Amino acid sequence: MTRLSSDHINLINQRLPKLEEHYQSITGKSVLEIAHFASGTDFLPLEQRSKLTVASIPISCGDGIIGDFSETVALVLKEFAGVNTFVTECTDVAGFNEALVKKADMVFMADDKVCLCLNLRTGAHSDNGFATGRGFAALLYLSAHENITEEVLVLGAGKVGAGAYHFLQAKHVPVRWYDLKESSPHGLDAQLLAGDWKKREWNYIIDATTSPSFIGADQIKAGGIISAPGIPFGVSNAAYKKAGLVIRDELETGIMSMFCEASKHA
Ligand SMILES: NC(=O)c1ccc[n+]([C@@H]2O[C@H](COP(=O)([O-])OP(=O)(O)OC[C@H]3O[C@@H](n4cnc5c(N)ncnc54)[C@H](O)[C@@H]3O)[C@@H](O)[C@H]2O)c1
Repeated sequence: MTRLSSDHINLINQRLPKLEEHYQSITGKSVLEIAHFASGTDFLPLEQRSKLTVASIPISCGDGIIGDFSETVALVLKEFAGVNTFVTECTDVAGFNEALVKKADMVFMADDKVCLCLNLRTGAHSDNGFATGRGFAALLYLSAHENITEEVLVLGAGKVGAGAYHFLQAKHVPVRWYDLKESSPHGLDAQLLAGDWKKREWNYIIDATTSPSFIGADQIKAGGIISAPGIPFGVSNAAYKKAGLVIRDELETGIMSMFCEASKHA
């Protein structure tokens, strides 16, 4: 997983209202509806959501706190889900304790390996990697009007790629995948590995890798859809221009999909 930078965070803060408009225009659904669709959970009405309190806990271990990360997670949840949020004053275990003392219903926290949401009332939880994959697969599927008959290529078979792959398979969408390691610890079918993916133009691509600008114009059909959660951005300028739609955000879809997964039975 690539760490977000402060530049990413500043960008996210500025664009939240525009993202809602953009995703509505390409999918016909709000960010919250997309996240529920991705996680397969029932839509929580605002009346219930507005009673929830979510704590965002800064975690200082590993490479340390990314400036304003916890604040931005709280902002995303407030903006798109309408829940009450606060960032704990303390970090780490003391921050978790603060969330309990202040009677938070859910907590969000991230270190260098895992970004986790835990529902303190029900025990339901969600890992950002898989949730992000499901979210970006849902964005692609909805943008294609829930009607995909051609194979979708999933690049990268870490948690994000695996989340996307399993979401699409559950929708009976034909999927192929490729990872530099040519294997995955997350149960992707080895028979569907597309070792020769570069030799083909695809109508649908999900980039869940950590490689920059490696998807060329020769790999995407004119007017095709690329859903690209991978950081850094894996789509070359030429492929970007040739595609009909390139879907990307660095945090919002993943955080909202986590919220929806972990808010079940809340
Ligand atoms: N946009 C978001 O909200 C969001 C959320 C979570 C993770 N991410 C990003 O998504 C990416 C994937 O996350 P992850 O947790 O699954 O990471 P990961 O490191 O577990 O998996 C990435 C996989 O991509 C493969 N890979 C790298 N370059 C490749 C290439 N050129 N071709 C094929 N495979 C290649 C690697 O071998 C690896 O298995 C990371 O960049 C991460 O930072 C974005």
